Amino acid sequence: MLHETLAELASQPPLVFAGECDHLKSRIAAVARGDAFLLQGGDCAETFAGSSADVVRNKIKTLLQMAVVLTYAASVPVVKIGRMAGQFAKPRSNPTETRDGVTLPAYRGDAVNGFEFTRAARTHDPRRLLRAYHSSASTLNLCRAFSTGGYADLRLVHAWNQDFVSGSRAGERYEAVAREIDRALAFMHACGADPEEFHTVEFFSSHEALILDYEAALTRIDSRTGRYYDVSAHFLWIGERTRAIDGAHVEFAAGIRNPIGVKLGPTTTADEALALVDKLNPDREPGRLTFVTRMGAKQVRDVLPDLVEKVTATGTPIAWVCDPMHGNTVELNGGVKTRRFDDVIDEVRGFFEVHRALGTHPGGVHIEFTGDHVTECVGGGDEIIETDLHQRYETYCDPRLNRSQSLDLAFLVAEMYREL
Ligand code: PEP
Ligand code: CO
Repeated sequence: MLHETLAELASQPPLVFAGECDHLKSRIAAVARGDAFLLQGGDCAETFAGSSADVVRNKIKTLLQMAVVLTYAASVPVVKIGRMAGQFAKPRSNPTETRDGVTLPAYRGDAVNGFEFTRAARTHDPRRLLRAYHSSASTLNLCRAFSTGGYADLRLVHAWNQDFVSGSRAGERYEAVAREIDRALAFMHACGADPEEFHTVEFFSSHEALILDYEAALTRIDSRTGRYYDVSAHFLWIGERTRAIDGAHVEFAAGIRNPIGVKLGPTTTADEALALVDKLNPDREPGRLTFVTRMGAKQVRDVLPDLVEKVTATGTPIAWVCDPMHGNTVELNGGVKTRRFDDVIDEVRGFFEVHRALGTHPGGVHIEFTGDHVTECVGGGDEIIETDLHQRYETYCDPRLNRSQSLDLAFLVAEMYREL
């Protein structure tokens, strides 16, 4: 069954083009130079059921709002990448899960098995890889339509906020920015300027390159250059658990020409980071390599400086991005996983402080969020507390920021950027 599925995947059309990946690489090169900011986000685990038009639109809308806040308030071009259209596989710390004395395989993402706690659902099924491909295709189609088909037009800057204006501080704060943008647009228009950039946005897809059978089946030779590209997404990253220098994931990534990210957790040594640079970007190509650091709020100020300093000393262009989610997960009594908004912000603040002190560029943020009003992380302007979490705790994996917390974060990051 696996072989048939992989053969079928290998015969499917590409989801993205090599030229698009190169274009993203040039955008990430600007991030590494200090001329742009990267905003990457989406679910921890996308699901087939959650690939509906409404859910996808809400995520795009939230990402667009965050990007507008950052672009306007921090006056910096924002490179937008979704953890979307392919984020269907999860590395797990524990291979099994036990509930009420029953032990079953852990949920590993919709590309592998089902979330429901039954033996049938938790049994892996290779045919899910095909569903992952088709679900990625339909999500990416929507993303492309939303970003270029009129929805992302800056004149709709108020419309994205319509369901959100009243009752939320973040929504009201956003509305004030939107009014200023309106005035700026009217001014530009009166001057005779109406560039294409006001009507469409560039939007890129990404996911963790975890299931190498899937990624390899979607790796193709680019007819222009004769080089390999993984056409399952524009940007692929290697997770904290699979970044071993002699491991299969790094070997795979070394062989493709897409822009690549590597997650770096608090135990990463400078030698490991340097070895990753040599292996994944031997030619020192700008935009090729992004380090996504996820140290945790408590450790970021202690462990990040050494890595940044030693990597920077090699002269390699690197985009440094902060994932303030994965080092700040806590488990409450009763086993519910959550993240405190204040910890998330504190890690971003630490990331900015470290880069400011070293004279390097804090290049972006990588977050887990959703466009819906879930209650999975505590804190933020709407002040979600622990006893609220059960109300809308919908994630299949890690706790995500909701729409309002995501906007709060965008405003705070814009302030930090402005202070640089
Ligand atoms: C993730 O991004 O969902 C993830 C598992 O992250 P990390 O590899 O950094 O733990
Ligand atoms: Co996660």
